[in-house]
Amino acid sequence: MSNVEKRRNITKVHPGQTPFHIIESQQFTKEWLEQDLFPEADKWKAFLANREYRTSKPLAGKHLYYLFYESSTRTRTSFQRAIKLMGGDSEGTENARMFSSVTKGETLEDTVQVLDGYYYDFIVLRYDQIGGARRAARVAKTPIINAGDGTGQHPTQALLDVYTIDHEFGNVGDQVVTFIGDPQRGRTVHSATYLLAKFPKMKFNFVSPNELRIPVGLRNYLDRHEIPYNETSDLESVLQETDVAYVTRLQSERDKKKGKKIITPQDYTEFFLTPERADKLPAHAIIMHPLPRNNELPKTIDKNPRARYTQQAHNGLPIRMSLLNMIDLGRIY
Ligand code: NCD
Repeated sequence: MSNVEKRRNITKVHPGQTPFHIIESQQFTKEWLEQDLFPEADKWKAFLANREYRTSKPLAGKHLYYLFYESSTRTRTSFQRAIKLMGGDSEGTENARMFSSVTKGETLEDTVQVLDGYYYDFIVLRYDQIGGARRAARVAKTPIINAGDGTGQHPTQALLDVYTIDHEFGNVGDQVVTFIGDPQRGRTVHSATYLLAKFPKMKFNFVSPNELRIPVGLRNYLDRHEIPYNETSDLESVLQETDVAYVTRLQSERDKKKGKKIITPQDYTEFFLTPERADKLPAHAIIMHPLPRNNELPKTIDKNPRARYTQQAHNGLPIRMSLLNMIDLGRIY
């Protein structure tokens, strides 16, 4: 374990190993995804399809706390569903900024340290500032799972995104992934890129208004690892070479916090995947979106044979079941 990893209490996960905290996509190796995570997720998919959860309770007696400082539908519900379907239980707060001692000025670290003494097996944290999960992991004795930290990362979303790509193409590698919309503030874009960059011969396009180019940390990572990428505002110019069109919403709630609008939805229509634009994608291409969507992905696209975002969201359940199970297997109580 490197000193940096030790300080952060975040370890790299190689085949045959299990994660403790899940903080960022850089933790995971390609080999672990291919050899451990994807087969594990297939197993939980079968567990669900065969309704094995009616009789088998592999996480009975295990408890998950969800500590959410930002709204969520899929991430929180799928974690709750995951533990419940495995025989464990969950509780927590959907709005820590309103319903917890955060209103009295309590810090994240203090909250996590208190939860540490309440015998939870997992803390799923969504924080509204970049670095929140890492801060929590520094003080926590309970595994912290980053469910999104402001404009930082959303690693469990990336794991389900890459699992979806693997399932659709039969492998990951050699694909052109085009992120469309708000790659600057979209944490799912950051996490998916860090993770996909571990696979051979990937190429990335980031299509956005000039004001919303990728953050400097991600840019440095891609440069350092010599991963080919292209930033453009011209969506039409990259559609034909795209294997995965990953559409994202304008993260306008991030403007409100800063009190200024960077881009208005009217400025953003060039980045909508309209039915006409979707038809310019190759026939084998797939369309993904982390959801929730606004107008950038019109409802009419649902009928497009390339649409995979519903499947993608559903894959969140077996992936999160896998993560809970693997974290649990690695624990020494
Ligand atoms: C995303 C998020 O919260 O970052 N949603 C999700 O978890 N699937 C995407 C978004 O909010 O745009």
